[in-house]
Amino acid sequence: MYFCTIFDDMETKRETYEALMPQIEALVNGETDSIANMANVAAVLHAAFGFWWTGFYRVTGEGLQELVLGPFQGPMACTRIPYGKGVCGTAWQRGETVIVPDVHAFAGHIACSSESKSEIVVPIWQDGEVIAVLDIDSKDYNTFDETDKIYLEQIAKIISKTR
Ligand code: SME
Repeated sequence: MYFCTIFDDMETKRETYEALMPQIEALVNGETDSIANMANVAAVLHAAFGFWWTGFYRVTGEGLQELVLGPFQGPMACTRIPYGKGVCGTAWQRGETVIVPDVHAFAGHIACSSESKSEIVVPIWQDGEVIAVLDIDSKDYNTFDETDKIYLEQIAKIISKTR
């Protein structure tokens, strides 16, 4: 069943994440393959929040200098993003979550879709290295805030326990 949650206030968003966390934990803990886990986590988040695009880019490719498209939900997307490029490559380079309230105001934003208006990118760490990023796009401006950052970083940690 596909559903979309409209948020009236921050509490509702927090409650949705709180309800999702045990499900995500159970899903991921039952499977050791990280690509399978990324696929299910993208599906769960996408359905719960009705995001425009929800997915992962993995650090792979030539000399581990590129992010390559991984499991996702939503319209087709760019397949390769170099280190330091776009919001995804910037989050990888900085090693921290990047919240973009208005993608048009982010210099170097890579527009995979003209529908995307705001974005959050969360790095996933393993053994001191960023091994992937979780990237979420919204059709609305100012969708992502500290609440998303807190919960999505927890989800990134859960995923990072699998290979
Ligand atoms: N906007 C991203 C590219 C990936 S798509 O949003 C799916 C970026 O600037 O890195």
